Amino acid sequence: MLWAAYGINRPDGFRTVPAAKNWYEYDIYVLKSDGWFLYEVSKHTLLKMGNEDLRIYGGTQDFVKAAPVILVYVADFGRMNDTTDELRKFFSAVDVGYISQNVYLWCASESLATIILGQVDKIKVREVLKLRPDQQVILSQPVGHPGQ
Ligand SMILES: Cc1cc2nc3c(=O)[nH]c(=O)nc-3n(C[C@H](O)[C@H](O)[C@H](O)COP(=O)(O)O)c2cc1C
Repeated sequence: MLWAAYGINRPDGFRTVPAAKNWYEYDIYVLKSDGWFLYEVSKHTLLKMGNEDLRIYGGTQDFVKAAPVILVYVADFGRMNDTTDELRKFFSAVDVGYISQNVYLWCASESLATIILGQVDKIKVREVLKLRPDQQVILSQPVGHPGQ
């Protein structure tokens, strides 16, 4: 799923998704019952960041906490150099659409359910993921079994 979302699919290191100005500004955090993780794209592995179950912060709606996996899309504005804040916001909003759509398609292929969420307490998530000031929580995306 993470490979579909943001993995490398060509020898030159390019990804399954386009990225404005090759910034690849996203980090994908993964919240699960056994801890929280960062998707390390170059190694295609999950780096464990902590043992806490942070899924309660994955979205403000009740159904979110039932999801076994929640992806949190974090844009690092620090990587988006030589531009304006307006364009950082615009391009990061566009780029997250490609990533999350690939997750939608992968979920469809595996008969899983997913939903993209803007209703996230971004201030709280920044705090629990211990993000740097340049890192912005943009959207989250729970994945689970239909009807769960
Ligand atoms: C940018 C964006 C943010 C969204 N945020 C939320 C959200 O916070 N909570 C939610 O229940 N649905 C959210 N949705 C999902 C839409 O409500 C949903 O896609 C729409 O109702 C159509 O349903 P479908 O995706 O099942 O076809 C969001 C969708 C988009 C594109």
